[in-house]
Amino acid sequence: MLATLYDPIIAPFDRFGVRRWRQWATRAACGRTLEIGVGTGLNLRHYRAVESVAAIDPDAASLARAFARRNGRGEIVSLSQARAEDLPFADASFDAVIGTLTFCSIGDPARALREVRRVLKPGGALRLVEHVRVKNRLLARLQDILTPPWRALAGNCHLNRDTAQLIGQAGFRVRAVRRLIGGLFIGIDAVR
Ligand SMILES: C[S@@+](CC[C@H](N)C(=O)[O-])C[C@H]1O[C@@H](n2cnc3c(N)ncnc32)[C@H](O)[C@@H]1O
Repeated sequence: MLATLYDPIIAPFDRFGVRRWRQWATRAACGRTLEIGVGTGLNLRHYRAVESVAAIDPDAASLARAFARRNGRGEIVSLSQARAEDLPFADASFDAVIGTLTFCSIGDPARALREVRRVLKPGGALRLVEHVRVKNRLLARLQDILTPPWRALAGNCHLNRDTAQLIGQAGFRVRAVRRLIGGLFIGIDAVR
């Protein structure tokens, strides 16, 4: 999705709840934190009590917007153009990894989760907010049907991804899953 369109499209969703989920996700940030798929930087102002935030995204136009959103916190926030599948960081270099509405768009989410696990310290926190495949079989089937056209329109966004299952398969210990809007969105709190 074009970076210029993203902010006006997401703004009403942020007003009606997504901002609170951003706050919940970023509350797990501590020490050296990594944000995956920072996009236009809508989470940056929510970080508190961190030593640093390294944020990555493959989209240069989104990163330029995120750069402008550092709000005087340029010393602790660094931005890099990178994909989650190939993180340009050393093993065990982060205390926490945060992501919101990102794993739906990642080309190879299993590989990205292996990378997240590699760069997280043992015991480090992974906290994500994602829209996911619903449990209701009929609605899930509808998500399957809508996903191909939606991916083409919305930057590879999959409506039908079971991100919680992928996180478990990647070897994280899932501490809590919060179901939001009937399970259409989830908040996942996991540790390496
Ligand atoms: C729906 S936007 C969410 C942006 C931001 N996290 C938010 O909550 O507003 C999805 C983001 O995932 C990024 N993305 C797509 N593929 C990615 C990948 N392989 N690795 C990391 N980020 C990716 C996109 O560039 C986009 O910025």
